[in-house]
Amino acid sequence: MNGIMKLTKDVQSAFKAALKARQRSHSPYSKFKVGAALKIKGVAEPVTGCNVENASFGATICAERAAIGRAVSEHGRIKPEFLIVVTGEKKPTVPCGLCLQALAEFAGDDMPVYLGNEKAITKIMRFKDLLPNPFRSFKVK
Ligand code: THU
Repeated sequence: MNGIMKLTKDVQSAFKAALKARQRSHSPYSKFKVGAALKIKGVAEPVTGCNVENASFGATICAERAAIGRAVSEHGRIKPEFLIVVTGEKKPTVPCGLCLQALAEFAGDDMPVYLGNEKAITKIMRFKDLLPNPFRSFKVK
């Protein structure tokens, strides 16, 4: 972030957790390792995920959806505070459309999404900037 924006302790430790999860990525096909960490309101530790690929490519799950699945399984109706996504790319990599739609189920429009790599968080975006018009059959409270 070039020191412009100060990251909170929560964001810094979630960033580290996302990097650890990324190391566990199962991506022998794409070799594209992704780690995610979802901070949930009322839950101290961030819930992490990594991409888990499959020989039947379509069965692959992205890091973000892996984290959402874990978070809901462990905590029920979650209220996400922020999301961290880390890859091996120099330029920030945004979550795919499928993961954004999955996030829209629980995340509010203003949820910060921190994008980064092994070295640092390189960009901060709001959820609504990534997916301005999600399909929602109800309003997130
Ligand atoms: N991937 C993610 O984990 N998150 C995304 O938002 C985009 C893509 C994974 C899926 C696959 O294992 C690899 O990155 C290459 O597409």
